[in-house]
Amino acid sequence: KGKETSEEVVRRYLQKVRNPPEEDCTICMESLCGPSGYKGPGVGGISRAESVGRLSQCGHQYHLQCLVAMYNNGNKDGSLQCPTCKTIYGVKTGNQPPGKMEYHVIPHSLPGHPDCKTIRIIYNIPPGIQGPEHPNPGKPFTARGFPRHCYLPDSEKGRLVLKLLLVAWDRRLIFSVGTSSTTGETDTVIWNEVHHKTEFGSNLTGHGYPDSGHLDNVLEELRAQGITEEECLRD
Ligand code: APR
Ligand code: ZN
Repeated sequence: KGKETSEEVVRRYLQKVRNPPEEDCTICMESLCGPSGYKGPGVGGISRAESVGRLSQCGHQYHLQCLVAMYNNGNKDGSLQCPTCKTIYGVKTGNQPPGKMEYHVIPHSLPGHPDCKTIRIIYNIPPGIQGPEHPNPGKPFTARGFPRHCYLPDSEKGRLVLKLLLVAWDRRLIFSVGTSSTTGETDTVIWNEVHHKTEFGSNLTGHGYPDSGHLDNVLEELRAQGITEEECLRD
């Protein structure tokens, strides 16, 4: 992975398109029959501007240069996500800062889950300095409200969610560094796109129980990050 160029990564997931369709590339909005409209840095020296590729699983087509530019704007982890249908190629990872995830079972029931105990997850992330994968490399980031406590029913589905959250943690997808939509603070640790329930016995914040759709919603959000039960059984 170390010596692979961005173009080589992108090409892994592409099939050649000899005769591009009369459609626009939805990354640059220019015709697939003409050159890429991408003018930014970082694509000099790569293959011909008019090269078009088809993503192997979903079939969506883009200029090769547009996909390489998109890849270079991300965290360059060897994975690629189709901007149209969100199909993930490779293993998606995030930029969650270093920290700790722990969990244990507590002998109480959550509202809406009277027949089982409760899993409490404790996330702890200290403040630090942003790395190259963060919005402002070299600048400090804050970390508010840690340790953050989260709750899942200790049911079969709740345990499945826990198992997938552990994978999400390892792939650095639970938190991110950015601007908090709740407080407006910049350069701070924020929840990424996987919802957590941080309230135990009530639902004053909207992040509590009961919420009958919660586990299915989380499974859907995890799937959007490329984390599914089937996929975890594979590796
Ligand atoms: N509990 C769980 N999820 C939350 C909470 C909360 N108290 N507040 C916001 N979220 C969800 C939002 O619905 C959104 O989807 O997190 C996502 C990102 O929201 P931000 O406000 O940007 O995230 P963050 O600043 O990390 O969260 C604010 O959450 O756990 C608490 O202590 C934390 O008070 C802080 C609050
Ligand atoms: Zn394009």
